[in-house]
Amino acid sequence: MNKWIIPQDWNAYGPAEHTMWDTLFARQVALLSNRAAPAFLEGLDVLRMSKPGIPDFTELSQRLQKATGWSVVAVPGLIPDEDFFENLANRRFVAGRFIRKPEQIDYLQEPDIFHDVFGHVPLLANPVFADYMQAYGQGGLRSMRYGSIHRLARLYWYTVEFGLIRDGAGLKLYGAGIASSAGESRFAIDSDSPNRLRFDLRRIMRTKYRIDDFQQNYFVIDSFDQLLRETQDTDFGPLYADLETQPEIEISAILPTDQVLTRGTQSHVARGSVDWNSRN
Ligand code: PHE
Ligand code: FE
Repeated sequence: MNKWIIPQDWNAYGPAEHTMWDTLFARQVALLSNRAAPAFLEGLDVLRMSKPGIPDFTELSQRLQKATGWSVVAVPGLIPDEDFFENLANRRFVAGRFIRKPEQIDYLQEPDIFHDVFGHVPLLANPVFADYMQAYGQGGLRSMRYGSIHRLARLYWYTVEFGLIRDGAGLKLYGAGIASSAGESRFAIDSDSPNRLRFDLRRIMRTKYRIDDFQQNYFVIDSFDQLLRETQDTDFGPLYADLETQPEIEISAILPTDQVLTRGTQSHVARGSVDWNSRN
């Protein structure tokens, strides 16, 4: 349903808001050049608009349409799951239109336009990832009929938001929650604190996640093709039923069946997030 979509009202942004975008953009580009997946860095080009400052969704959508048929539309904030899935299933990415205030530059609770657009849009220009996001939306609508949205939400969290990828170039980030965060883009790649485990669909759908701090476990895919194949070729219906008989997995657990790429010290948690941020 389109009932949540509102005009972006690009002309209403003031100079301070455009400056905030430019500041965040420059900072993240510098941090990501050697940390983000090549596909993410290539996709950043669609964000280089003809006007400086916050991207105008009209121009942005024209560019994305050309690349993969996706568009970006503004919504007032978080919208109901069904409407979120419905938009994804139709290749529409819903984004907030407000930008964080200067005092929120390093942390805010609600996703703003910088997270939504800088974090998510680059990979929507990648044909394989673009297909994954649409399939996810269709799968989301399906998950509602099984009462299993929470399992699918975990898949989104550990891939779309906090996913890592390991390719010829080594370990790289692609998740939007990492890519839009100065602290977490360093932490996810450079820190010896978190565990990095090989992507495992069933395992992820049993795993809790934390929203209040950097992740303690990251899941690493080999390629976007692998991610699309393994999720699209699996019928989640029987999987959802089967997972109901399995115990939940804690946010920092390592199981005997996990393929561990790096075993973390978890020192960040022991030390507390304020400490880590101030040291870096
Ligand atoms: N194959 C999933 C299902 O049967 C749909 C899906 C595809 C979900 C890709 C997430 C990502 O519901
Ligand atoms: Fe997000």
